[in-house]
Amino acid sequence: MSPDLVVDPSTKNYWDGAAATHGTTPGDRYYLLDDVVAGGTLLTTLEEQALAHATGADAGTPLAALPGRYVLHLQSHIGVDGVVMARAGARVTCADYSAAALGRAHDLAARVGVTIETVETDARDLPPSLHGRFDIVYATIGAICWIDDLDLWMRQVALALRPGGVLVMVELHPAYQMFDSLSPEVVCDFPYGGGVALTYTGAGSYADPTDTNESTTTSFAHSIADVVMGGLRAGLTLEHLDEHDAIAFNPRGDEVLTQGDDGLHRFLLGRGTNPGEPPQPLPVAFTYLARKPD
Ligand SMILES: C[S@@+](CC[C@H](N)C(=O)[O-])C[C@H]1O[C@@H](n2cnc3c(N)ncnc32)[C@H](O)[C@@H]1O
Repeated sequence: MSPDLVVDPSTKNYWDGAAATHGTTPGDRYYLLDDVVAGGTLLTTLEEQALAHATGADAGTPLAALPGRYVLHLQSHIGVDGVVMARAGARVTCADYSAAALGRAHDLAARVGVTIETVETDARDLPPSLHGRFDIVYATIGAICWIDDLDLWMRQVALALRPGGVLVMVELHPAYQMFDSLSPEVVCDFPYGGGVALTYTGAGSYADPTDTNESTTTSFAHSIADVVMGGLRAGLTLEHLDEHDAIAFNPRGDEVLTQGDDGLHRFLLGRGTNPGEPPQPLPVAFTYLARKPD
């Protein structure tokens, strides 16, 4: 790894710990691994739609174009989406800087009966063995906020893609990230963008709020403009950008999102224009697809 790259030991320690416990504790509301082994998926509709869009698959069968495609699941954590894509026929490489996470990904792949490659690497410095190989680089929900230098990360994505390959990104929207709570209203808990760092100390995990382990992590704010311009600066062509006002699960498990009768979670701020009208939803997630030119 380049000597200029600094890995924050405290954040890395959090991820190693999370990799060991996610999907194993009774309070885990997210990593329902038995369901995945039984044939289920943790890909949200947004992630499936993004893959369908990127591969030209029909929306009703979003993974149908994956067989034979080389997919890099970047910052794969315990590899759940990678394993699901491998089961759909993709040739999947899971990359993460946590060896513990990659070990769990192998365990899950074995339970599901698929083969995946794993590579322990910093996402900001992908090894030459990953360069030019991938039809798809897949990095979703909770990946880029751990990256200080998004331009550098985008250049690694561009290196990993083969000509014509595509980055599939689905991420939490930076506007939603700014709100810590709605009642009381705590805004600007997190900056909007520009790679600004925020260090947080607390207990619990997004997957298991009952987790009592304390950790200190540092994450980084990236605006929509940071993402789009970072991709352009890395030589990727913008193919699709969408902002979503509803998501299938509550990523942080807090009261900033409200679940509607349709089961979807929305970021409802303020009052409706007229009495009795509901507030308008703000974006909670976005999809960004960017292609490496042929
Ligand atoms: C929120 S998780 C990704 C979750 C994933 N979308 C899922 O559904 O499980 C973020 C992952 O990024 C990894 N990570 C953070 N910083 C990294 C870096 N600089 N290089 C490689 N992996 C990193 C962590 O180890 C962790 O597994």
